[in-house]
Amino acid sequence: MAEQLSPDLRVNLCGVLLPNPLVLASGILGTTAELMERVAKNGAGAVTCKSCGPEPRAGHPNPTVLDWGPGLINAVGLANPGIDEAVEILRETRRRLQPLGVPLIASVFADSVKGFAEVTRRVCTVPPDLVELNISCPNVEAEFGRPFSLDPDAAAEVTRAARAVCDRPLLVKLSPNVTDVVAIGKAVVAAGADGLTAINTLGPGMVIDIESGWPILANRVGGISGPAIRPIAVRIVYDLWAHLRVPIIGTGGVTCGRDVIEMIMAGATAVGIGSAVIQDGPAVFSRIAAEVRDYLASHGYASLNEIRGLAHARRHMEP
Ligand SMILES: Cc1cc2nc3c(=O)[nH]c(=O)nc-3n(C[C@H](O)[C@H](O)[C@H](O)COP(=O)(O)O)c2cc1C
Repeated sequence: MAEQLSPDLRVNLCGVLLPNPLVLASGILGTTAELMERVAKNGAGAVTCKSCGPEPRAGHPNPTVLDWGPGLINAVGLANPGIDEAVEILRETRRRLQPLGVPLIASVFADSVKGFAEVTRRVCTVPPDLVELNISCPNVEAEFGRPFSLDPDAAAEVTRAARAVCDRPLLVKLSPNVTDVVAIGKAVVAAGADGLTAINTLGPGMVIDIESGWPILANRVGGISGPAIRPIAVRIVYDLWAHLRVPIIGTGGVTCGRDVIEMIMAGATAVGIGSAVIQDGPAVFSRIAAEVRDYLASHGYASLNEIRGLAHARRHMEP
């Protein structure tokens, strides 16, 4: 009997080869080179750093993250050491990840178009394998104003400014908190984005401690992530892929191999994992990769390319 070959988990994300589609989402363990190396050694296919901005920020006071059951709610408030230190951390991370063959994605944010361009220019000196623009953080509106991701023109302007100084593949991370996410996706792709990350957290939401009567997060409101948002993330990836056919990191509520397959069938090229890493630790990556491999093998698929976008083809078939 012919020996059954192990399915190929590698994916090509905007010209960058990932050993598997599982990407550490921004904001989780992406703060030091040691932590990012640990995530890579635990089987991640790419690692995204915590979003870095122009200046050091302490973020919001504790508590900032709460597990409320079907998901998490967080208002970390973009705590980061500022671009000077972030560049050093990213250099060290790159040095450690390169021998492992795990690409590094640098996530950047700022409160202005100029700021986005400057932080992007600085991270490109590292250089990372890809750059992701976080235009969609929902928890800092009081200080930063409306996120750029809520308006196609503003989103396009930031993307254009970053594109002008970025010689790496550029991803833009979109928010679910809009009525027409495809319009935002179209605007940023027309402005030079090579791909999209979808989605950032949903909300803001609130969870109240009914004994004290107080909202639990010190910031009162925060972004919702985890399994509670997965069907929204899948729908958004599906809509973006239907209209744009660009590489997408499908992110939101993924906890197992089945969830990864669903995202890829919606059209994702790679799949971000955030909350599940907080809940289960970095070993989630090797567990989920094994589950994806088992699914492909048991269904007779040789690679993820064979199922990407499958849900779209099915739409036109008779039941
Ligand atoms: C504690 C926490 C911090 C986060 N920080 C960032 C961040 O700095 N930048 C960013 O782009 N997204 C951030 N996110 C959003 C995640 O990257 C991801 O888009 C979202 O949580 C949905 O994925 P998940 O359901 O797998 O967690 C954060 C999420 C959590 C839970």
